[in-house]
Amino acid sequence: MIRAIKGTRDILPPASAVWNEVEQAARRVFGGFNYQEIRTPIFEETALFARGVGEETDIVSKEMYTFEDRDGSSLTLRPENTASVIRAFIEHRMDQIPGLKKLFYIGPMFRRERPQKGRYRQFSQIGAEAIGSDFPGVDAEVIEMVAALLDACGVKGSRLLINSVGDPESRARYVAKLKEDLAPHIEALSPDSQRRVTTNPLRVLDSKAEQDQPIVEKLPSIHDFLTDACRDHFAAVRRYLDDRGIAYEVTPRLVRGLDYYTHTTFEFLHGALGAQNAICGGGRYNGLAESLGSKVAAPGIGFSIGEDRLVMAVEEARGGTAASVLRLFIAPMSDEAFRKGAVLAGAVRAAGASVEVGPPAKLKRLMELANKAGAAYTLLIGEDELAKGSYVLKAMASGEQAHVSEAELVERLRA
Ligand code: HAM
Repeated sequence: MIRAIKGTRDILPPASAVWNEVEQAARRVFGGFNYQEIRTPIFEETALFARGVGEETDIVSKEMYTFEDRDGSSLTLRPENTASVIRAFIEHRMDQIPGLKKLFYIGPMFRRERPQKGRYRQFSQIGAEAIGSDFPGVDAEVIEMVAALLDACGVKGSRLLINSVGDPESRARYVAKLKEDLAPHIEALSPDSQRRVTTNPLRVLDSKAEQDQPIVEKLPSIHDFLTDACRDHFAAVRRYLDDRGIAYEVTPRLVRGLDYYTHTTFEFLHGALGAQNAICGGGRYNGLAESLGSKVAAPGIGFSIGEDRLVMAVEEARGGTAASVLRLFIAPMSDEAFRKGAVLAGAVRAAGASVEVGPPAKLKRLMELANKAGAAYTLLIGEDELAKGSYVLKAMASGEQAHVSEAELVERLRA
């Protein structure tokens, strides 16, 4: 038997309905903030992620699905979408459109991580990027939008962590200090961290290796290296979050595992998710567009929500996946009744309700089928009903029955 590849999943009904609901909520909430959808390809030139996300990140150095195309070019299944969105922004000269560009996306990403609950090799992200402004008010609004979506999905009790990783100047001073402080411990670090002390010491901070933790804990905080401008930006973001009544925890170690971040970084954690508790990650990336070849500065900020994890949190909040409810089962007692039933079904569906038409059968068998289908109502069509054009509509929960014409049937079941 051929099975789905390790780390990939089939999303089956009724769970797929929750995925659709979450996506509809995202479209609605993001629309309210004037974001529009962008759809980018699922594979890109490998260089985009190597340059955008950073060669020394776990994502690029270990987790990408990279393959050689038949013409010898190196392609990669997108491990994230911010680099692709910025690539599209530059390629389509979106900097020439006046105003802030507010884009959102929903779709699959690919990372070759060790699969476990909440961590997959193909997973889906719901994300957004606001490009073209370095105003801290945009940072606060982007964070507010995540909070609004979690709220719209009924997900309660998430924690928001925020930090500032500063600008290149602050970072250079911090990185120099990290190198200095890590040098005496080099032997005790994991092999990845040993290499990164030279190549990218910030990545040592988000090392997951057990042996690195005691050393990482003693490293200085980036906050002691921020310039005045960086401090001001971070203070403004916090003030604007306070205005919105959004609670947060300042977490100086939150550097996040991608190299493009500047200034604000943030994560939403959720308790229902176990070890993989980050439901959303994001931050500002002021130099990313230039590093990908933009001639103009295009400071941006955005986030990605792990949709698999959001769906888990929604299911947890609801105590499971509710089975989808069929509105009407049409029970025809003859072939002629079946033909009439199919026509009636069309009229009810046009009014927005879901309808199943059973096969011609005896009453007892039809009622069994209606019960199995979990229909809210059953419509009985026999000889008499056909002759009179009046049908028996039964509410399955209460057992109540009424005689209805086609027009009455449609009105009663209108969604
Ligand atoms: P990220 O932190 O790498 O950021 O991923 C964001 C979210 O995607 C995570 O918090 C998690 O919920 C979900 N996620 C990541 N990996 C997996 C996985 N293997 N299985 C299931 N869910 C996963 C980014 O991707 C950035 N592009 C965020 C961003 C947008 N920053 C600025 N704009």
